Amino acid sequence: MSGKYKPPFPRIAQLKTAELFAQHLEKKNIQLDFDAELIPGADSPFGKAHTLRSGQKIGNAMCILPMEGWDGTEDGRPTELTKRRWRNFALSGAKLLWGCEAVAVRPEGRANPNQLMLNEQTFQEFVDLFQLLQRTHEEQFQDTSDLLIGLQLTHSGRFCKPNDKKKMEPRILYPHPVLNRKFGLAEDYPLMSDAEIDSIIDDYVKAAVLAQKAGFHFVDIKHCHGYLGHEFLSAYDREGKYGGSFENRTRFLRDIVSGIRAAAPGLEIGVRMSIFDWVPFQKGPEETGVPAQNRPYRYAFGGKESGTSADMQESFLFLQELEKLGIELFCTTAGSPYYNPHIQRPALFPPSDGYLPPEDPLLGVARQIQATAEIKNAFPGLYVIGSAYSYLQEWLPNVGQNVLNVGKADSIGFGRMVLSYPDMPADIISGNGLKRAKICRTFSDCTTAPRNGMISGCYPLDPLYKKMPEYEQLKALKGE
Ligand SMILES: Cc1cc2nc3c(=O)[nH]c(=O)nc-3n(C[C@H](O)[C@H](O)[C@H](O)COP(=O)(O)O)c2cc1C
Ligand code: SF4
Repeated sequence: MSGKYKPPFPRIAQLKTAELFAQHLEKKNIQLDFDAELIPGADSPFGKAHTLRSGQKIGNAMCILPMEGWDGTEDGRPTELTKRRWRNFALSGAKLLWGCEAVAVRPEGRANPNQLMLNEQTFQEFVDLFQLLQRTHEEQFQDTSDLLIGLQLTHSGRFCKPNDKKKMEPRILYPHPVLNRKFGLAEDYPLMSDAEIDSIIDDYVKAAVLAQKAGFHFVDIKHCHGYLGHEFLSAYDREGKYGGSFENRTRFLRDIVSGIRAAAPGLEIGVRMSIFDWVPFQKGPEETGVPAQNRPYRYAFGGKESGTSADMQESFLFLQELEKLGIELFCTTAGSPYYNPHIQRPALFPPSDGYLPPEDPLLGVARQIQATAEIKNAFPGLYVIGSAYSYLQEWLPNVGQNVLNVGKADSIGFGRMVLSYPDMPADIISGNGLKRAKICRTFSDCTTAPRNGMISGCYPLDPLYKKMPEYEQLKALKGE
């Protein structure tokens, strides 16, 4: 996207008072409640602790969402940059670290050649990472008894790029009529066999056993963003035991969970899921996003056939399945950063492979909050974490506080915001006010960089990344 792009929406930083923010929401008819006054300290809803059925404690209602940096070694180990990011997560003040970042369960399932990977060879690195988190948090906050740390396990399915940053090597479950075309796959591109899926399930279980040994309190069986776990849910056209009926499409989840329960008893299990999905989007007139097809669309799990609104009936069935499996930790997200980023991570400035926002990004924030609230309302026994708050910028604490106060979620997830402003959670609790210069402005450089083969990070605002040569490359790429 050209650096000359002038967003057609007011910048959040201009909506300086509660009155201005409320006026904007009203004018655009955006249903987004917020508390005009923040409650600091011990009474803050952000400070509310929770105890899981297992007795494990989560010391407050703030969660760091998983975010990869594309900066591991080629054999799946963390580098100094990875460790710096994880250290920042531990320093943030949040008491729930949801997975830190996606970790592949096998080499060919990586989303990039530098994705972390958990296996016998890399095991000790994960012991060290877990201890780094604990030690760092202990030094800063003097208590880790209420810090819950998970690891997000993944296979990237359709979006595998395991060997070359520029070469997709998709492992797909069914020929997707839009995504096969969008990513240059022939209609008869080979499908993953049931036997391969069985062996991937074994890898998830092995990785979970190692995660538990390394100290992690839970693993997330990732079901979001178009990756393998998520693709199962829309595998309506797949034949055999992993496709077609709802029972078959959720077999992957059930088999992993029963494998983990048998091999790693006591390990908590969580699921991060795209609770609704839409049709893929593409650039339309003047580069604004439009649906890639206008015919009825059957492949949006949790979406209507129109392709552009949610219908969470099947998502609710999936949640019933989670309850039956005794899963308590649930993190919501939506869509996919590869084919409809504006519903997944609302931003004013799109990533380089994206499109200009087709709606006020606040609508994207409000949509995820509303859908998460419906889930919390229907499944009060789940501990529900919401996502996609970063676009709120200055208003993140006010909207988050309201969500927690009225019980629309149990915990507020922090994604991009903690790349630019790692200690925002601590600043919210202390009530000392926000550091405006560190607030994420959704420039999307942390997505554009990896899309162009570079490491991810907050180039415009993080002092370390600001100095990197990659930042100059990025600016050139964006025509700035
Ligand atoms: C650079 C980057 C990397 C991400 N990596 C992951 C990941 O590994 N796993 C995952 O579930 N989500 C990932 N996400 C999505 C975030 O967890 C989050 O859902 C999204 O950024 C929206 O939240 P936000 O508005 O607070 O940023 C990533 C997002 C970004 C920007
Ligand atoms: S690069 Fe920084 S400012 Fe831009 S979206 Fe990412 S975290 Fe936010």
